Amino acid sequence: FPPADKPPLDVLICAPRGFCAGVVRAIDAVEKALALYGPPVYVRHEIVHNKYVVESLRRKGAVFVDELDEIPDTTAPVIFSAHGVPKSVPREAVTRRFFAIDATCPLVTKVHREAEVHHKRSRHVVLVGHAGHPEVVGTMGQLPEGAISLIETIADVARLLPPADQELAYVTQTTLSVDDTAGIVAALKARFPDIVSPHKEDICYATTNRQEAVKRVAPQVDAMIVVGSPNSSNSQRLREVAERAGCPVSRLVLRAEDIDWSLFGDIRRLGLTAGASAPEILVEEIIDAFALRFDVRVETVSTADESVFFPLPRDLREQATV
Ligand code: F3S
Repeated sequence: FPPADKPPLDVLICAPRGFCAGVVRAIDAVEKALALYGPPVYVRHEIVHNKYVVESLRRKGAVFVDELDEIPDTTAPVIFSAHGVPKSVPREAVTRRFFAIDATCPLVTKVHREAEVHHKRSRHVVLVGHAGHPEVVGTMGQLPEGAISLIETIADVARLLPPADQELAYVTQTTLSVDDTAGIVAALKARFPDIVSPHKEDICYATTNRQEAVKRVAPQVDAMIVVGSPNSSNSQRLREVAERAGCPVSRLVLRAEDIDWSLFGDIRRLGLTAGASAPEILVEEIIDAFALRFDVRVETVSTADESVFFPLPRDLREQATV
């Protein structure tokens, strides 16, 4: 279309958005291992929940597996994903004599250590999280079976039957909805007034900041696009946050080709953000796709500055300085 024929569209881009420090570290770990040792580099689980990232690493020689038993005997590096792994996984890696590199986000490891400390102090742990998510599987797998009870909703708090003779403590998944979790925690504290809380919140800075930015933008726009994968927990939460903040259309989109244009025909203001595992290049791709159909004016709405950085896992750091 010539520019004059295109309807105007204000695109309000949320900041912060996209990659968090844990995701940058995990992707860098795979890239560094490939550079130092050459392919193949085995990765247990999608290193981060984004198909675009996974495919580009696969093309460079990363081999993704669901479990370690899919890996042949090898001296090649075996990397654990940013979401964390149950204790059984590093144990199996030792038995198989793998060169294991743990790319678990340090903020997930922090939750693992909290759960361990509670267990050592004979507390029963309540984990607030989503059943089946790899981070939840990893956190549950830090302690012996039965030492952690998983709850997902306020209704689960009422159903909870913790051991009567133990003190209680709770931890949470790092990528939950800040508001939903506040409600669940309030219900936990109402039912178990002595429950021990984390010293510092388990929901990570990146999750909190991205949800805050969406809350600011969502009420001002006709539609919101969250760039991210359907299996990305923090991306799903961003979509929900936009919806609850009153945005009439809120969609999770992996690539520009996934956009259902029938939803975006009459809009004048679009909000745009990206989950913590979605690369910025995909945000640009979405803007370009809108620019083909609209006369786009882009504005950034910033609610926080981020400067968090995590150094590479130790094995790759030491090698990197040789
Ligand atoms: Fe870590 Fe939070 Fe990212 S836990 S991987 S910084 S979303």
